[in-house]
Amino acid sequence: MTELLIKRLGLHGDGIAEGPVYVPRVLPGETVEGRIDGQMLHDVKVLRPSDRRVSAPCPHYKSCGGCQLQHADDAFVADWKVDVVRQALSSHNLETVFREIETSPPKSRRRAGFAARRTKKGAMVGFHGRASDTIIPVERCEILDPGVLQGARIAEELAIAGASRKTALAVSVTLGKSGLDVAASKGKPLDGPLRQRLAAICEAEVIARLSWDDEIVAVRTPPLYEFDRISVSPPPGAFLQATLHGEAALLSAVREITRGAGRIVDLFAGCGTFALPLARHSEVHAVEGDGDMIAALDAGWRHADGLKNVTTETRDLFRRPLVPMELTKVDAVVLDPPRAGAEAQVVELAKADVRRLAYVSCNPVTFARDAAVLCAAGYVLDWVQVVDQFRWSAHVELAASFTAAHMR
Ligand SMILES: C[S@@+](CC[C@H](N)C(=O)[O-])C[C@H]1O[C@@H](n2cnc3c(N)ncnc32)[C@H](O)[C@@H]1O
Repeated sequence: MTELLIKRLGLHGDGIAEGPVYVPRVLPGETVEGRIDGQMLHDVKVLRPSDRRVSAPCPHYKSCGGCQLQHADDAFVADWKVDVVRQALSSHNLETVFREIETSPPKSRRRAGFAARRTKKGAMVGFHGRASDTIIPVERCEILDPGVLQGARIAEELAIAGASRKTALAVSVTLGKSGLDVAASKGKPLDGPLRQRLAAICEAEVIARLSWDDEIVAVRTPPLYEFDRISVSPPPGAFLQATLHGEAALLSAVREITRGAGRIVDLFAGCGTFALPLARHSEVHAVEGDGDMIAALDAGWRHADGLKNVTTETRDLFRRPLVPMELTKVDAVVLDPPRAGAEAQVVELAKADVRRLAYVSCNPVTFARDAAVLCAAGYVLDWVQVVDQFRWSAHVELAASFTAAHMR
């Protein structure tokens, strides 16, 4: 057994001791002992706990892979998440003002991915265990909206109907205004009898829509989501912010940054989380790589009353970012890229003449890289609002305000 002192937490929430040796579910300042295997410490026993340690609220925390930070008090997690962003910026010599973090309440996540494996007696459903393929059945969950947790029973029925013996069925369940939107993948190929069984499950379980490997097999009622009371019906598996609270916090920051803009471009627009609410006061051009999502955004705009003009474009912004000529007469740009960030797009933004930028990010590392490009080109990073909609995980999200320095 080796005794180690935990120096800090890494980006995945693991403790890091001298070596480096990575130790899961510990806190800085704790002395721990365990068995070293490569760069990992196993069979960890905490000898001297931190005074920030708390007992995890969830009985499944030890085995389930869903949460990483339930053993720390809320203030520790909040400070750590803000510090992850501060450190990422500081590695590019950037500093800014941090607003108080917004943390989503427990039991508010609206989407879950269940794993469901067929067994001799039926099916086993749950979440993947920590760093393993083992399925951990979960009767309780502190992060999911209880309506989403109901999806576990549906996942079980779907696995009995159509999981192969070898692979676990992956079942994504999203809670919207009109009920559960369920999408299964990695199951048996669809044939006539399976279609019939799936349609019967959809009816009996009051599922809004059921998809199987990207094909919609049954719709009882089109799944609806509201962005600031504007209804949209996204395609199966479309991106949505993880919690209503997180969505509202991000939207509030984006609204503040773009306030007064006559014309806004929303890049990586998804199904219109920002574009549609912003269209209450501004004209918006929404650009997104996924054609089905942008079609949902467009339909949402067409069915809504009282919005200003919204134009849409399906475009790969990694390969074909908007260039300065396309950004003339644009007062503000919103960008909310995937984890890879928006490297090609910020190079073009840096050459353009847009006064205000609202950058929403789910990856502090790529955000800081892109922020450095913008700041080198004369933008000022006014403030960052960290938003924690993945409570108790190591995931960090944020909205940031940039203003063109010569236009301040
Ligand atoms: C973090 S989501 C944000 C979506 C939307 N802003 C929202 O809040 O709901 C990132 C979006 O970028 C889109 N995307 C990913 N890669 C892209 C690319 N190369 N070009 C354009 N859009 C892309 C995804 O389809 C997804 O909708």
